[in-house]
Amino acid sequence: MSRSRNKSKSRAWSNRQNRDRYVREARTLGYRARSVFKLSEVDRKYRLIKPSHQIVDLGAAPGGWSKYVATRLSDRGRIIGVDLLEMKPIHGVGIIQGDFTQPSVQEQIIDCLDGQLLDLVLSDMSPNISGIATIDQAKAEEIQVSILEFCCMTLKSSGTVLTKLFAGSSFSGIQQMYGMGFAQVSVIKPAASRSESREVYLLARGYRIRPQRHR
Ligand SMILES: C[S@@+](CC[C@H](N)C(=O)[O-])C[C@H]1O[C@@H](n2cnc3c(N)ncnc32)[C@H](O)[C@@H]1O
Repeated sequence: MSRSRNKSKSRAWSNRQNRDRYVREARTLGYRARSVFKLSEVDRKYRLIKPSHQIVDLGAAPGGWSKYVATRLSDRGRIIGVDLLEMKPIHGVGIIQGDFTQPSVQEQIIDCLDGQLLDLVLSDMSPNISGIATIDQAKAEEIQVSILEFCCMTLKSSGTVLTKLFAGSSFSGIQQMYGMGFAQVSVIKPAASRSESREVYLLARGYRIRPQRHR
């Protein structure tokens, strides 16, 4: 791409950011990302987060969701943020850098839980898009399968998952997989999610499986 095209693309991006009311509000409130409003909306509507909850935030950088969760927890609660990218420290948030789909990273999360089970798994993970539909769908599925396998080891019976998905051919298969493990599965498009984006959130509540491992 030519340098002038790059320049006009980044000017369009920064104009859009400045016009966006969620970006302005996030800056005013000291949040690192506008995506915090997607989580706060779901939290208010579905009473997702309780002060004593044990929570993991997958795909946490730059830290909007993790910081929001930390403000909702008491000192009995716990939030661990995981991302491929380095994250600046956030007060009250345990941070792990690595690829969540790797068993070694999942082991690190389990170690940080000190033998407790999770009440809530949050995932805002966005895999890098290659543009090749079959590859991108396989990646999206791999992430969701990893989350479900991780739930088998760490999520409390009756626990909850809120996970980002992209509308596409793998969508209904993923929804079905969650339907097998959870009593209730809903698809949510929060107001702060851009209408032109294919992203939606799947809220799976009432985990029906007893976790297999608890250290
Ligand atoms: C949209 S951002 C998350 C924004 C975040 N919820 C916030 O409020 O600041 C998506 C993140 O997912 C991360 N990600 C994608 N695949 C991942 C993986 N396999 N393991 C860990 N993080 C991943 C990316 O590095 C990126 O930082």
